[in-house]
Amino acid sequence: MCGIVGYIGSKNAVEVILAGLHRLEYRGYDSAGVAVVNNKGLEYIKSVGKLKVLDAKIAEHPLSGSLGIGNTRWATHGEPSEANSHPHFDDKMEIALVHNGIIENFHELREQLEKEGVKFRSQTDTETIVHLVRKYYEGDLFKAVQRALKDLRGAYAIGVICKNNPDVLVAARHGSPLIVGLGEDEGYIASDVPAIMKYTRNVIYLDNGQVCEIRRDNIKIEDVDGKPIPVNVHRVEWDDSAAEKEGYPHFMLKEIFQQAEVLQNTLRGRVEEGSDEVKLQDMNISEDELRSCQKIFIVACGTAWHAGMVGKYLIEKFARVPVELDLASEFRYRDPIIPPNTILIAVSQSGETADTLEAIRIAKRRGAKVASIVNVVGSSVARESHGVIYQQAGPEIGVASTKAYTSQCMCLALFTIWLGLIRGTLTRAQAKEMIAHLRAIPSKVDYILKHHEIVKELASMPEYRDAQSCFYLGRNFNYPSALEGALKLKEISYIHAEGYAAGEMKHGPIALVTDTFPVVCIAVKGDTYEKMVSNIQEIKARKGLVISVATEGDDDIIAHSRHVIYVPECYEPFSPIVVAVPLQLFAYYVAVNRGCDVDQPRNLAKSVTVE
Ligand code: AGP
Repeated sequence: MCGIVGYIGSKNAVEVILAGLHRLEYRGYDSAGVAVVNNKGLEYIKSVGKLKVLDAKIAEHPLSGSLGIGNTRWATHGEPSEANSHPHFDDKMEIALVHNGIIENFHELREQLEKEGVKFRSQTDTETIVHLVRKYYEGDLFKAVQRALKDLRGAYAIGVICKNNPDVLVAARHGSPLIVGLGEDEGYIASDVPAIMKYTRNVIYLDNGQVCEIRRDNIKIEDVDGKPIPVNVHRVEWDDSAAEKEGYPHFMLKEIFQQAEVLQNTLRGRVEEGSDEVKLQDMNISEDELRSCQKIFIVACGTAWHAGMVGKYLIEKFARVPVELDLASEFRYRDPIIPPNTILIAVSQSGETADTLEAIRIAKRRGAKVASIVNVVGSSVARESHGVIYQQAGPEIGVASTKAYTSQCMCLALFTIWLGLIRGTLTRAQAKEMIAHLRAIPSKVDYILKHHEIVKELASMPEYRDAQSCFYLGRNFNYPSALEGALKLKEISYIHAEGYAAGEMKHGPIALVTDTFPVVCIAVKGDTYEKMVSNIQEIKARKGLVISVATEGDDDIIAHSRHVIYVPECYEPFSPIVVAVPLQLFAYYVAVNRGCDVDQPRNLAKSVTVE
């Protein structure tokens, strides 16, 4: 998730932009850059690494101007490098552009532009936009941007300047946030309120499909077809800290509520509406290798391991390849047997987890092909893997993983369909149906988020909030959901929670169940629903406090449960993605009610880079 800042007015744009980018550092990034229009034309400085590197470069080579744009880049396409960092420029170096988002059709746009003689300087999707603006530029920057946007598919928030239009800053958004700030004879653009709050609290929240022309003394907003849009100015009342969390009390809650959008982003560029194919551009494993693969290992830690378990169930059911799931910390010491034609999938949000990295190295030394599912572009796991599926989830700040987990499950579902088609265990028709189910998930997650009050109320009840210990139970695809739900609760509320395969209750754990013992039972409609109901009845017979997670419209479950959290009907194999959300919310609200430090739980780090 990149950070964007732009300015037009009487201040030095570079100072405003750098100050704004520093206020966006919490969003995570790997490179940065600034471009300004001044009496020398268009000047810029870019750098890899933290903003202090850019600060130092600018101190050495002073840059100034009354119109400018800047960006902190969180890589999605192309490694972190100066060439890939923003701003990007047209061939003539007259137009500069910064971007946050993912352009889904950038491959075909790039091919077409290269056929038209455009020379690309980077690997990014962003650069296609600035060359399109140049293609349509006939002197009016706003109109050129408006026309260029009609060729794009995907998510964007952009800032654009041109040396021939020194009185104009152009901005537009679709799918990625962008605000416009209004000052005295000056204007701002930013990805987020914190970047400009020290200068103005009068902001316009651009809506999807809107293009804005900002002059010192005038603002114009139209849609991409030129239809005028009324300008609605809002007054921001947040303090600094609240602004970084966009008004949420914690990063974790903000990231939980980002998941509908994040899951859309995870799918972007990989599946189209009505399509029966999955595009995984960076796998670098041949179809022959995939067809001859006799075994898959999935290795990970913590929440990523739970996502890996969802992947195991999916791959074995639909691609019919045996999957051995390993905790990376165990894999590296148990001298695993890695037969020929093995693929190892490493799952890691940070891409820096020491045990997962070592597992990759062991597997490569023993001849396995390694594909990783990772959120941070250019991270060690990504660089040391043969192929990679980037989660495209944006930086995850909260220590307890939420959006990273659901996007990992989504990536494993994509991989499963892709592998099943290659190995012939899925027909085109089956793949098309499964893709339609995947594409329907973000709206189901959005529905749950809109009804979060139900979970918030449960979490305030003393019998749950003050519990000493509890179980999470699930079966089949939702056994990992039980494990993940339990981890969420214990790592942020410090209540002891254990996830179990529901069928295991009779083999010992049920001895713990009493009338003060909460048991969260995941009983969505599916192959094991009836079995889950039996397990719930066993718990209820011992007076356990049953909270069932059930499918909307299932009234039968009420008789067996103390409370029910409903989720929308969902294709069972993909239901872990949907089920995760109420369990995240439950853990979050219980932890808040217990006064715990939700974003920085005791003893935990966001990335375990040591053993
Ligand atoms: C998740 O809530 C935990 N913070 C932790 O289990 C995490 O998932 C694990 O450390 C793996 O991290 P990674 O995905 O960055 O490799």
